[in-house]
Amino acid sequence: MELPAECDGLFRAPQSLVLEAHVPSLAAYRERYRRSVEEPHEFWDDVAKEFYWRSQHSGPFLKYNFDVTKGKIFIEWMKGATTNICYNLLDRNVNEKKLGDKIAFYWEGNEPGDSMKISYSELLHKVCQFANVLREQGIKKGDRVSIYMPMIIELVVAMLACARIGALHSIVFAGFSADSLCERILDSNCSLLITADAFYRGDKLINLKQIADEALQKCKDKDSPLKNCIVVKHLGREEELVSDGICSKSPPLKRLCQDVQEKETESSKRFHPKTPWNSHVDLWWHELMKNASKECEPEWCDAEDELFILYTSGSTGKPKGVVHTVGGYMIFTAATFKYVFDHHPEDIYWCTADIGWITGHSYLTYGPLANGATSVLFEGLPIYPDVSRMWSIIDKYQVTKFYTAPTAIRLLMKYGDEPVKKYSRKSLKVLGTVGEPINPEAWLWYYRVVGEERCPIVDTFWQTETGGHVLTPLPAATPMKPGSATFPFFGVVPAILDESGEELEGEAEGYLVFKQPWPGIMRTVYRNHQRFETTYFKKFPGYYVTGDGCKRDKDGYYWITGRIDDMLNVSGHLLSTAEVESALVEHSSISEAAVVSHPHPVKGECLYCFVTLRDGQKFTTALMDELRKQVREKIGPIATPDYIQHAPGLPKTRSGKIMRRVLRKIAKNDRDLGDTSTVADPAVINHLFSNRCETVL
Ligand code: WT7
Repeated sequence: MELPAECDGLFRAPQSLVLEAHVPSLAAYRERYRRSVEEPHEFWDDVAKEFYWRSQHSGPFLKYNFDVTKGKIFIEWMKGATTNICYNLLDRNVNEKKLGDKIAFYWEGNEPGDSMKISYSELLHKVCQFANVLREQGIKKGDRVSIYMPMIIELVVAMLACARIGALHSIVFAGFSADSLCERILDSNCSLLITADAFYRGDKLINLKQIADEALQKCKDKDSPLKNCIVVKHLGREEELVSDGICSKSPPLKRLCQDVQEKETESSKRFHPKTPWNSHVDLWWHELMKNASKECEPEWCDAEDELFILYTSGSTGKPKGVVHTVGGYMIFTAATFKYVFDHHPEDIYWCTADIGWITGHSYLTYGPLANGATSVLFEGLPIYPDVSRMWSIIDKYQVTKFYTAPTAIRLLMKYGDEPVKKYSRKSLKVLGTVGEPINPEAWLWYYRVVGEERCPIVDTFWQTETGGHVLTPLPAATPMKPGSATFPFFGVVPAILDESGEELEGEAEGYLVFKQPWPGIMRTVYRNHQRFETTYFKKFPGYYVTGDGCKRDKDGYYWITGRIDDMLNVSGHLLSTAEVESALVEHSSISEAAVVSHPHPVKGECLYCFVTLRDGQKFTTALMDELRKQVREKIGPIATPDYIQHAPGLPKTRSGKIMRRVLRKIAKNDRDLGDTSTVADPAVINHLFSNRCETVL
């Protein structure tokens, strides 16, 4: 007998989904889970067998040490085996699985009506061509290539071309500033940058090449080995369309068409300024591709060779270069994609994340392509040109599996049900969320309005560091509870520890840790293995420490309660309080800054900043604007402060440590401060309470 969708606070998948599911019941999940942790070698070897290996591993399938007291931390899956991830994602799908004509990506541009598609064989050809271009540029196995691009097909081509020749890509989200890009290029010693001329985010023009140039100038001042910059003509492509007489309905193109009619010669300059060009450094992508061969022998890599670097915030302020390796990352992203989205060949899958974040790496590129999936790659914004955009795309492509962030759900929820109901969501089968805890209200709206009470929601908990999902429901197997990431994925063994490092059983709350490696876990911090050990393994020897707090309920469900270190999560993106503080104190008027997270109805959390001025300086609106600008320039728009309060003094312990716990309460106007006996000067607290910043900037 089929249970109703909701019963005792648990939500279940409809029978239609269960019937076709890879894992159709909780019992089936439990059985497979048991095997995955008791016999990890056998379990993961079965997954690995789906892929092409040039040669098999020579030593043990898994070798690791998770205990700092016993020596160096290391994790090795299938060391000695050789393969190529790009070959497995493309050549294997085209040649062995005969998926050459299958669509790999439907690309949907910022402007409705601006779209294209690319098949597996077309993608393979482009990747081979660009891999040959990279080789011609002297890029070899192990070299680092920095990629700073909008959400366009060439971004996927660039990353897979790196993977094909064994070079490491380091993708920097196109919303980061020149300073952030420069810092990342230098840290990983990149020898090439790939970018694009410009793009529109909504109706805002982003001159990406100009920002990249600023970053390169800063790098040059610091002796970077980076010599060349390859530039995709993205907006320029549209100009060519217009000059061919094709006018589109889309606002920027329409604007351009009008410009063309009004003022022929100046038109393209007004549409977007001419791409700044330095012929000693810059190369056009399309010119390099013109004569490149469509055949390219892949570089056969060890399973434990480095695949990519992706920077994530660190609590000291300096971003950490998280390193993932070829073999483990491949099988883990492939398996999580298959089971968590219950993938089937006819699915149309859409992940809205930017490829600049780990979600875009694992669940827009590697995981879906490893499964021969068809995905939507969306360049634009959820509410541009109107608040129905997402739902219109779901309808247009008949999306079956949809993966987005709680912040986007909360944003769209604000506009009510009508914009959603304007379009059909009949095609949808599974919904997913990632990035931060989802509040039950948003969960229920997503479930009822978007999914019409038919689609299970997979609330996937994971991190840049974990490579893929670690706590997650499986859509047809796991009865869901709104707001809970439910149970561990195969091969993942969570535990909850108390402050002294004791494992807590049953119902409990404490530190979320993992007891043994899964194939997709990061292997090191780039060129700083010690930081890897200190950040993740030192606090509780023998465990990987996530930095998140977690609760387990009486039914064994896991609930993430949020970060317990000095990190905050703005719209699903981690920032450290330290990096924002250091951007603020670089301003000549500021002597000290303390930043805390503050609840925000859409972003989840936002930044509330306390700043102490240097002697003789005045706290003015102009100064606030300068500080906001400074943070945007140092880090990027995601880090823009929402509140800035003047703090003549900050609450500190006698040893001088800023008490952020107290500052968080002040920001919320919550006078229930708990124990303040350790505050060196209690008078500052009252002063801060009476001068709270009430309005969002
Ligand atoms: C942090 C990792 C993983 C891709 C996006 C973010 C928070 C992530 C969830 C979730 C509650 C979540 C955690 C985690 N987080 N997913 N489903 N429920 N919290 O990657 O930038 O490395 O951030 O995001 O705090 O530690 P990231």
